[in-house]
Amino acid sequence: MSNAISGFSKLSKSEKIEWLLDTYFTDKDIARKLVKQYWNSDEKLQKLHDEFIENTITNYYLPLGVAPNFSINGKLYTIPMAIEESSVVAAASKAAKFWLDRGGFKAEVISTEKIGQVHFMYDGDFNDLASFFKTIKPKLISSTSDITKNMERRGGGILDIELRNKTEKLDNYYQLHATFETLDAMGANFINSCLEQFADTLKNEAEHNLEGNLNVVMSILSNYVPNCLVRVEVACPVSELKSKDIKNPELFAEKFKQAVNIAEVEPYRAVTHNKGAMNGIDAVILATGNDFRAVEAGVHAYAAKDGQYSSLTHCSIENGMFKFWMEIPLALGTVGGLTNLHPLVKFSLEMLGKPSARDLMQIVAVAGLAQNFGAVKSLTTTGIQEGHMKMHLMNILNQLEATPEEKKELIEQFKTNVVTHGAVVEAIKNIRS
Ligand code: MEV
Repeated sequence: MSNAISGFSKLSKSEKIEWLLDTYFTDKDIARKLVKQYWNSDEKLQKLHDEFIENTITNYYLPLGVAPNFSINGKLYTIPMAIEESSVVAAASKAAKFWLDRGGFKAEVISTEKIGQVHFMYDGDFNDLASFFKTIKPKLISSTSDITKNMERRGGGILDIELRNKTEKLDNYYQLHATFETLDAMGANFINSCLEQFADTLKNEAEHNLEGNLNVVMSILSNYVPNCLVRVEVACPVSELKSKDIKNPELFAEKFKQAVNIAEVEPYRAVTHNKGAMNGIDAVILATGNDFRAVEAGVHAYAAKDGQYSSLTHCSIENGMFKFWMEIPLALGTVGGLTNLHPLVKFSLEMLGKPSARDLMQIVAVAGLAQNFGAVKSLTTTGIQEGHMKMHLMNILNQLEATPEEKKELIEQFKTNVVTHGAVVEAIKNIRS
């Protein structure tokens, strides 16, 4: 409690840093230097980053890598990925190249509907509420005309509003369940503004025209978007799976399918299996300035839609054809939010050819499928540690403060030896002695 502070957000950036140094750090000079070292020398650019959130003290870097050679519906992409995990970009690039030679990725947007809800309590008769809703529905929609006019001009807007009776789950609980088309915007602000207006109109109308008490609890979009779906797939004859790492394609295909089947029925495995796909998905979501928490929440809910958490990806072998696919909900934007603000997001979107939200859904899902393919391929052939530790070698060498010469020698040495933390420590000791 002695560290509690009031009015922290009102302090200047320097004052905030000084308070932190005084309160938590023994070597204040080192801590201060570190925080400032990460400031951008371009003051305007730094201010832009400072103003993204409250109480910014510095920047937190993640590597922005790229995975080239992704063929999606016949078009070639280099995909930007912001991620810290050593092996992810390498695995994505490898999977992209593998499928480039085997027909590439096919992607299709199935639907683009977003959802928002006004949650309210009502203690009167349901039939009264239902006929009241029918009467006020046009008013609910017209009351948002100022908010929706621009979106409607571009071809989007409110699709429908339903009254949903949830009293079987919770006494007196009802919803206005609204659906939206938000085109290239992720749509959170648009949807939430519409919902808050629905709530105001609902309350006002209920006061004068409905018997019983109606209380709005909250109005918010849902990050569960099972009708904003994209499907991605790779397929080739089993015999064409043959490659440098796959000597026996029939055996590989069978084992790969078994691994996917295991993730379909076993939640402990499904979570890790899907985490592999999210490695690719989140990295592109971050690089393109989208909301990875929203995507994570929605995708995992979708993975559990049949009552048990299960694999997002599926595999079949029929008539000699190997097929691997995934269908996931993704609510993304390529306008609004950070997309028009963060210079590296703009850079990433330009690199992707200024995609529409529909294009980006396909690109993100492809990165997820590629990543899952790469992980399951490694798991069912060499095991995951070989590739992972090869990529992690550089982190270990940096931890041990290896010189450029030591790095060169050890990278060469570990091309043919198994990388473990202990083995690298031992090898560097040998060089240094
Ligand atoms: C590691 O980040 C991801 C994997 O665990 C995914 C998987 O097990 O499928 C390798």
